[in-house]
Amino acid sequence: MNFRTPVGTNDILPPSSRVWSYVIDHFSRMCVRTNYDLIITPIFEESGVFQRAVGVDNDVVRKEMYQFQDRSGRDYSLRPEQTASIVRSYVESRPKYLPWKVYYWGPMFRYERPQAGRYRQFYQLGLEAFGSSDPSLDAEIISLAWDFLVDLGLSDLELRLNSLGDEACRPGYVADLTKFLDSVKDKLCGAHQDSYQRNPLRVLDCKTEACLEATQDAPFQRDFLCEDCRDHFKSVLELLDRFAISYRQDSRLVRGLDYYNRTTFEICSTSLESAQNAIGGGGRYDGLVRSLGGPDTPAIGFSIGLERLVSCLENQSPVVIGRAHQSHEPIIFLIDVTSSGKASQVFRDLSRSGINVARDYGDRSMKAQFKAADRSGAWVAVIIGDDELSRNSATIRALRDQEKLRALLQVSVREKYDGRSCGRQDELESSGQVEIDISDIEVFFNKVFIPKFSRHISLASQ
Ligand code: HAM
Repeated sequence: MNFRTPVGTNDILPPSSRVWSYVIDHFSRMCVRTNYDLIITPIFEESGVFQRAVGVDNDVVRKEMYQFQDRSGRDYSLRPEQTASIVRSYVESRPKYLPWKVYYWGPMFRYERPQAGRYRQFYQLGLEAFGSSDPSLDAEIISLAWDFLVDLGLSDLELRLNSLGDEACRPGYVADLTKFLDSVKDKLCGAHQDSYQRNPLRVLDCKTEACLEATQDAPFQRDFLCEDCRDHFKSVLELLDRFAISYRQDSRLVRGLDYYNRTTFEICSTSLESAQNAIGGGGRYDGLVRSLGGPDTPAIGFSIGLERLVSCLENQSPVVIGRAHQSHEPIIFLIDVTSSGKASQVFRDLSRSGINVARDYGDRSMKAQFKAADRSGAWVAVIIGDDELSRNSATIRALRDQEKLRALLQVSVREKYDGRSCGRQDELESSGQVEIDISDIEVFFNKVFIPKFSRHISLASQ
């Protein structure tokens, strides 16, 4: 019997996992630069955390949670998103200093109908900031999400923004919207005819023709914002204007989770299937800490879906995809036919000195090892044969981009040995190979060859 991945899940395999690791690394570095710290929370929580935060009437909680009882009868759920877990963690740990700024990445679980861009286990990276309602924090969060995607080379992005008001101005609006929906209920799609009273805002987000048409004349929150919410939203927009980030105000953007107030946003890619074209989204949730038992603490954050992001990069960002693969390619492949254990030692020394290095195993023939070297994508082979072993040296041969790399190797070896020939240098010159003392290998690569090689690579990829 052959087992397969569960429905709606994927193995992220090499080489495309290189793009994942590149993106996560890029995101983590951006977060650290802007003073966000990594947070890791359990992938399951008491179900109440999500019921209270996301909303008991919300579809994500009602229909999509992987909810289970553990062997002691406790009611747990795999996290459908991480914001609720982080708020639980904030309330439990009560950080002393605000703002509390954290970032994360990891798997989320929603029992949805699997299709392209929609999975049952999917990955998000995101960040959350607690402790300030300053609109400059909203603008910071939105611009971090935007800049992160733009810096990865995505260009077909659209930023949609809305303000959902607060506890002062939302209840009046929701009452008006419900009254309106009562008057058009027979025209709504089947699902919303039943559910609009439980969650009237969600009807505005429904993509069916029926709901879109029926809600054409619906009242929108923008006309109900109180003065504080209006001023707050205006300041956010002014800052985005100042950053030259273009956006579209969208009164239908209510988001799929119930905890939001004031600023909400989504970043969509026009190259993705329209039903699943949101790469990421987020917003304020100023009442959530209190509703999970903590002190009044405003907060805001966003999450980006990694599967959707990687799919956009694969379609649009050949340079980033190239860089991601390049960052994992071995520079050196070690070929050792001496059975002396030398390769093991050199492998350890080179990798510890920071060089990407690969090797073969099992004392195979020179030919087999060269084949493995070609398959690995390494740039140069470091060869240790019996001759080299007797001279305590290694021969270096270019494997890719031969003409350029041969020249770089020759220049590097002359520089390293101060113009003097070393070992069999004269003899090797005609074949484009060079020989160096094994005791010089780390210095030769790190100080002489790789700086020249990096310049060559970056010029070639421009
Ligand atoms: P969300 O809009 O539910 O927000 O999810 C954010 C992103 O996760 C989506 O834009 C999408 O790229 C990805 N995503 C969601 N569901 C799936 C799925 N089934 N398959 C693949 N990708 C998916 C949140 O989760 C909030 N926690 C965002 C947030 C953070 N708000 C404030 N802070």
